[in-house]
Amino acid sequence: MARVLERRATGERATGAPAGAGGPIEAGAVVTLRVARFDPERDVAMRWQTYQVPYTPGMTVLDALIAVKERQDGSLAFRSSCRMGVCGSCGMLVNGKPRLTCQTQVSELGTHLEVAPLPNHDVIKDLVPDLSGTFERHRKVHPYIIRPAADEAEMRAPTREFAQTPEEMERYLQFAYCLKCSLCVAACPTAATDPLFLGPQALAQAYRYIADSRDAGWEVRADAVDGVHGVFSCHLAGACSEACPKGVDPALGIQLLKRSLLTGPPHAEPAPVIGPRPVVPEDPARPRPKAPPPTV
Ligand code: SF4
Ligand code: FES
Repeated sequence: MARVLERRATGERATGAPAGAGGPIEAGAVVTLRVARFDPERDVAMRWQTYQVPYTPGMTVLDALIAVKERQDGSLAFRSSCRMGVCGSCGMLVNGKPRLTCQTQVSELGTHLEVAPLPNHDVIKDLVPDLSGTFERHRKVHPYIIRPAADEAEMRAPTREFAQTPEEMERYLQFAYCLKCSLCVAACPTAATDPLFLGPQALAQAYRYIADSRDAGWEVRADAVDGVHGVFSCHLAGACSEACPKGVDPALGIQLLKRSLLTGPPHAEPAPVIGPRPVVPEDPARPRPKAPPPTV
């Protein structure tokens, strides 16, 4: 986590590599991509193939791969969708680090790129990792609000909102930004040696829900994470938080989860039964949002 704190203090981008070979690249310069290839129907092992594409300003690693696929080799397989860092589908190992390729500028890394599928995952084809293990582990921690039995009728036919103060929301908010991109799993040294380890993505999400004041699923979730391959298998390498492109700190979530298992759930009060929205006292020190500019 220390590296992560340092990164936040210096404002370094989560996805950005250290400057290294990066820097301004002139339009038209040649970008060389060394790309891992694997076709399960033909290959017995991964092989490398090299392509060259002309650089255009603003080009991302994903743009370079799309240029290869559209103009040179339609057989190259990779996964992407939103191209704006939201869907989490374009994660790859680029120059040795797990990154979202749609958010990684070629100019951050220089004109020589090495692109491989995410480690710690099976490979479906070329640069496409099998994320089903990540999704399966995510499901194991019950990633949804569990309400007390007394609220069952309200859950089935809601009549009111689930009241929560801004302070209560702050306890879990950063973990709610998880994309399920699995970059943290690709970076995790425990996941590399224990394929049954629940992993940073699922463990951080377990904390996200037990820290939620609306949730009453502490026991079922504690049971899911407190096993041989659970939260105490984490060695606190912190690589997960380093890799996360959304500023989530899974290593922090895992430590808070460990503490919760030893001392009790983070919100001591039982989840409140749905009622009227609480009155939040005004905090004069809290910055007020600026008024929007007038429209014409
Ligand atoms: S915690 Fe970050 S790196 Fe891990 S799956 Fe969520 S968004 Fe991706
Ligand atoms: S394509 Fe959606 S996050 Fe990159």
